[in-house]
Amino acid sequence: LFARPWIFIRGVPSMKFLPPEGPPEVAFAGRSNVGKSSLINALLTQKGLARTSNTPGRTQELNYFVPDGYSGQGEDLPPMALVDMPGYGYAQAPKQQVDQWTKLVFDYLRGRATLKRVYVLIDARHGIKKNDEDVLDLLDKAAVSYQIVLTKTDKIKPPAVEKLLAATAEKLRKRPAAFPGIIATSSEKNAGLDLLRQAIQETVAG
Ligand code: GTP
Ligand code: MG
Repeated sequence: LFARPWIFIRGVPSMKFLPPEGPPEVAFAGRSNVGKSSLINALLTQKGLARTSNTPGRTQELNYFVPDGYSGQGEDLPPMALVDMPGYGYAQAPKQQVDQWTKLVFDYLRGRATLKRVYVLIDARHGIKKNDEDVLDLLDKAAVSYQIVLTKTDKIKPPAVEKLLAATAEKLRKRPAAFPGIIATSSEKNAGLDLLRQAIQETVAG
């Protein structure tokens, strides 16, 4: 699945432009600038496939990526799709626009039957914040499976990563839809990527 090239197939600005529900979907959610798009590029070893930026608010639509080589017509559907999402929280964009993305993200997370799992990305320097808690509440309530991924672990020392892993696991203990296991990653150093690829494959297969 991850050995072949992937392609961008669709940017979805609002719910009515979503593709018909079909192959299993795995989405990447998290605060603006946490590293969602960078992690997708690192996972697929395709720099520049998902657009990244220093400026929070880069990704503005639900962006669909699928393995290449499927026509998408009739029965010839890709085995899965990865969905990059706009971030929530602070972004360098007009409030009205940010509110619209946030609504899109929340509506999608709550209402997509083919959404198999959400990877909720947490910046290893900051840990889980209030707006992350709100998203986890929503996923627990909607019974949508999610797994936590720490990003940018290259920016802190290994003992600090260990400490955050333990503290985060404790915070998730009473959350019903949390999939056990937190994956520590760095897109910069290509760390934790095999674990994440394996987790995604198991999700899609299961
Ligand atoms: P939005 O689309 O704006 O919500 O952001 P995003 O979550 O998609 O983040 P993006 O991938 O665009 O990355 C934001 C910034 O963080 C960029 O400057 C990346 O280069 C940087 N970044 C992402 N991942 C890592 C990482 O693992 N390590 C380091 N050091 N920087 C990273
Ligand atoms: Mg992005």
